[in-house]
Amino acid sequence: ALQAVIFDLDGVITDTAEYHYIAWKKLGESLDIPFDREFNEQLKGISREKSLARILRLGGKEHVYSAEEKEEFAHRKNEHYVSLLNSLTPEHTYPGIRELLLELQASGIPAVIASASKNAPQILRALELETMFSYVVHPDSVPRGKPAPDLFLRGAEEVGADIEACIGIEDAQAGIEAIKSAGMIAIGIGEEAGLKASGADVVLKDTKQLSLSFLERTLQEHSH
Ligand code: BG6
Ligand code: MG
Repeated sequence: ALQAVIFDLDGVITDTAEYHYIAWKKLGESLDIPFDREFNEQLKGISREKSLARILRLGGKEHVYSAEEKEEFAHRKNEHYVSLLNSLTPEHTYPGIRELLLELQASGIPAVIASASKNAPQILRALELETMFSYVVHPDSVPRGKPAPDLFLRGAEEVGADIEACIGIEDAQAGIEAIKSAGMIAIGIGEEAGLKASGADVVLKDTKQLSLSFLERTLQEHSH
């Protein structure tokens, strides 16, 4: 039976993946490195520092700036991103998420956050969801980010769940890879092609269909 559900945050619990995109895009343009949504898929699930490195590489500028300048760019992006978070309210929680969390809570199945974001606690507070999660993995507490499995493995460990009885839910290709390399069942949220290619067991176009019975069925059908 299902022992834990390990959620990504940005783009799964709420639409903050879009805010990251807006903030990175603005920084990119200020550095003369424009990019589109397709490139942005490669930034999802990736840490602030690594995302900046990918953008600079896209512009052929990875060796142009000093460490201090790069730090300033990452800081500027985060300031913009955090300012966008100010408008976040509980109504911004994606459809079906609060209901699923209540079902999990009623069944005693822990819900965990495994996000690459250092802003996760602030977002959970703004959505008034912080009490719904048994554990929030801090991205700096594990050696490797996504696509490595570390965040998901730590999440399972913290709530004492067996890996084969965990489901991970992700909107990022790097995140799906992380879940699968942890040995868990992966549900992708978003565009089918990229998420399937990354190894998702099931892909849903949005969070509406997520329910405890759907998760239990998915675990049964995809475990071996
Ligand atoms: C991930 C997002 O959840 O967190 C990435 O998908 C983001 O886009 C990363 O870069 C780090 O977030 P933060 O809030 O620490 O800059
Ligand atoms: Mg995400």
